Amino acid sequence: MKPVTAIFAGAGLLGVLLALSAASPVSAQLLSEQTAEDTTKAGMEAARTCTRCHDETSEYPVLSILKSRHAVMADGRTPFADRACATCHGASLAHMEAPADGAERAAPDIVFSSSGPTAKHDQNAVCMDCHKGSNRIHWQGSAHETQDVACVDCHRSHIGDDPVLAKDTQADQCLTCHKEKRAEIHRPSSHPIREGKVACSDCHNPHGSNGPKLLAKATLNETCYDCHAEKRGPFLWEHQPVREDCSICHKPHGSVHDNLLVTRGPWLCQQCHLAQFHPSTAYSGTGLPGAATPSGAQQMLGRNCLNCHTQIHGSNHPSGVRKTR
Ligand code: HEC
Ligand code: HEC
Ligand code: HEC
Ligand code: HEC
Ligand code: HEC
Ligand code: HEC
Ligand code: HEC
Ligand code: HEC
Ligand code: HEC
Ligand code: HEC
Repeated sequence: MKPVTAIFAGAGLLGVLLALSAASPVSAQLLSEQTAEDTTKAGMEAARTCTRCHDETSEYPVLSILKSRHAVMADGRTPFADRACATCHGASLAHMEAPADGAERAAPDIVFSSSGPTAKHDQNAVCMDCHKGSNRIHWQGSAHETQDVACVDCHRSHIGDDPVLAKDTQADQCLTCHKEKRAEIHRPSSHPIREGKVACSDCHNPHGSNGPKLLAKATLNETCYDCHAEKRGPFLWEHQPVREDCSICHKPHGSVHDNLLVTRGPWLCQQCHLAQFHPSTAYSGTGLPGAATPSGAQQMLGRNCLNCHTQIHGSNHPSGVRKTR
């Protein structure tokens, strides 16, 4: 390794490029690429074709985009490294011409809005030109794509900090459409979404996924294990429904019952466990302190079944088959 580094260090950038181009035909292209300084200049110049009419004082202030990742001109992959505004809005030559008397100015080639002249599919194509990899490999055919949701329904490009990318502001973007989820995350037991500690995108990939319901992982349980790894096991004594699907007992967004439970115990448990070695009657409130009949009290109080079956997600105790230890 040493001799090679020495050559590179001594020969500078051109030397590196020459060395690379000798090694592979692809890297020969690098030779014709501009330096960071060149692209910055080109980007600024390209932007000026539009910014002579559009700036921060316009009805729609546009220049905050310069604070975003898209305007890192030294990064050759960004819009501002090359054609600037035209990368996303198209060359828009007709738009720049003075309209004939009384006529309206022609629209730019691409307008990003729900009501504008550009179909959402064509708006998305602009973004996907650069972003089709990684998290968006399942975009085509996803719930959002097929329902004609556009990238810009969630993303803002002309501000420095896109609110959908930040944990504490993201949910509000989603909740404009998913109104029923707003009520859910305000229930007494919920994931700390409102507090900005958990984001919708911690569990969902809004761009599409190979799991159900746009879940970030292939299965519901895998999604939960991401943060609740201790529930994965393996356990010596598994509890079958836990292994199967956390949502048999838990609501992911919010619940009126503690611990995000779908319903209160003992009913939660009695949906499946009735004819047991315990009295096989469904436990009700009778027998609680002060009541007439002395049956089932232990099973109703406090954490009810969990008073004894504490290891509800699984047990590693040699005699924990009943999840009591
Ligand atoms: C000669 C002045 C001028 C130039 C140059 C210019 N625009 Fe405009 N642009 C306007 C005016 C005026 C409006 C608002 C007119 C209207 O709404 O019809 C506008 C509106 C727009 C809109 C909103 C269109 C809509 O339908 O909501 C976009 C997007 C836009 N321009 C992008 C660009 C881009 C990108 C460039 C450079 C490629 C550019 N403009 C160059 C004058 C200009
Ligand atoms: C990364 C792609 C991208 C680049 C680069 C870009 N825009 Fe935009 N532009 C958008 C999107 C997306 C919107 C929709 C509103 C938003 O996201 O903020 C928009 C909205 C606008 C609007 C308002 C349109 C309306 O409907 O009222 C104007 C005007 C505009 N852009 C002009 C420009 C100018 C001028 C530049 C260059 C300085 C530029 N844009 C660069 C993506 C881009
Ligand atoms: C010419 C290529 C190009 C186009 C077109 C483009 N982007 Fe980007 N975008 C980039 C690059 C490069 C980055 C920086 C990626 C990185 O840092 O890894 C980026 C970053 C982003 C980010 C992350 C920003 C951040 O702060 O981390 C978002 C969101 C994004 N783009 C959305 C869009 C949307 C929406 C559109 C269409 C309106 C679009 N992009 C069009 C190249 C592009
Ligand atoms: C339903 C809302 C929604 C839609 C529609 C959407 N995004 Fe996103 N996007 C997000 C969220 C939320 C994040 C933050 C994800 C995270 O933190 O993991 C994000 C992150 C990104 C990022 C930066 C991180 C990354 O994944 O590389 C890029 C780039 C991006 N989106 C591009 C796009 C493009 C392109 C489209 C259209 C094809 C699009 N998005 C459509 C919500 C959306
Ligand atoms: C512009 C409106 C809009 C926004 C914003 C939006 N969605 Fe959606 N979402 C939809 C539509 C439409 C559907 C498909 C119809 C349905 O299932 O309700 C959908 C479906 C979903 C689904 C269910 C997928 C399925 O397979 O049933 C999830 C999960 C989802 N969105 C999460 C999110 C998240 C997370 C965000 C924010 C990052 C978000 N959405 C932002 C409109 C939106
Ligand atoms: C802790 C993980 C988690 C978080 C955080 C989360 N979800 Fe979900 N979401 C799920 C799971 C799991 C499902 C599928 C099971 C279900 O439908 O209850 C789901 C289903 C959905 C659906 C499909 C409709 C439905 O209820 O069946 C929508 C829409 C949705 N989530 C939107 C959101 C939005 C918006 C946010 C942020 C406010 C969010 N989710 C945060 C785990 C989560
Ligand atoms: C991004 C990380 C993350 C993911 C993914 C996640 N959780 Fe959580 N979960 C948390 C955090 C943080 C808390 C709050 C812990 C606290 O307050 O001490 C929590 C709390 C809980 C609680 C207790 C709630 C209460 O009222 O005390 C349950 C139950 C729960 N999660 C179930 C799930 C299920 C089921 C899934 C999968 C659908 C899931 N979690 C996915 C982070 C996550
Ligand atoms: C058979 C029903 C059931 C299933 C299935 C289930 N849980 Fe639970 N879970 C409970 C009960 C009951 C509690 C309350 C425990 C208590 O009060 O001590 C709880 C509590 C929790 C808590 C908060 C307290 C703690 O132990 O950290 C988390 C987190 C949790 N469950 C995650 C999960 C995950 C992740 C899955 C799927 C792998 C899952 N649960 C499957 C019944 C279940
Ligand atoms: C969705 C149905 C379902 C729910 C809800 C459920 N269980 Fe189970 N449980 C099972 C199944 C299936 C088994 C495995 C039965 C077997 O192996 O004979 C099991 C096993 C058990 C065992 C061990 C029994 C043995 O013989 O090894 C105990 C104890 C138990 N569950 C307690 C509970 C408690 C307490 C709750 C409520 C928090 C609960 N279960 C909720 C389905 C459920
Ligand atoms: C006072 C403590 C206590 C309470 C409360 C309790 N159990 Fe049990 N349960 C036990 C003990 C002890 C066993 C036998 C354990 C052993 O043999 O290791 C058992 C066994 C079980 C078994 C296995 C039975 C079999 O036939 O193999 C199931 C299932 C079960 N309990 C479910 C429940 C459910 C559901 C509730 C709530 C409605 C509940 N238990 C409440 C103490 C309790």
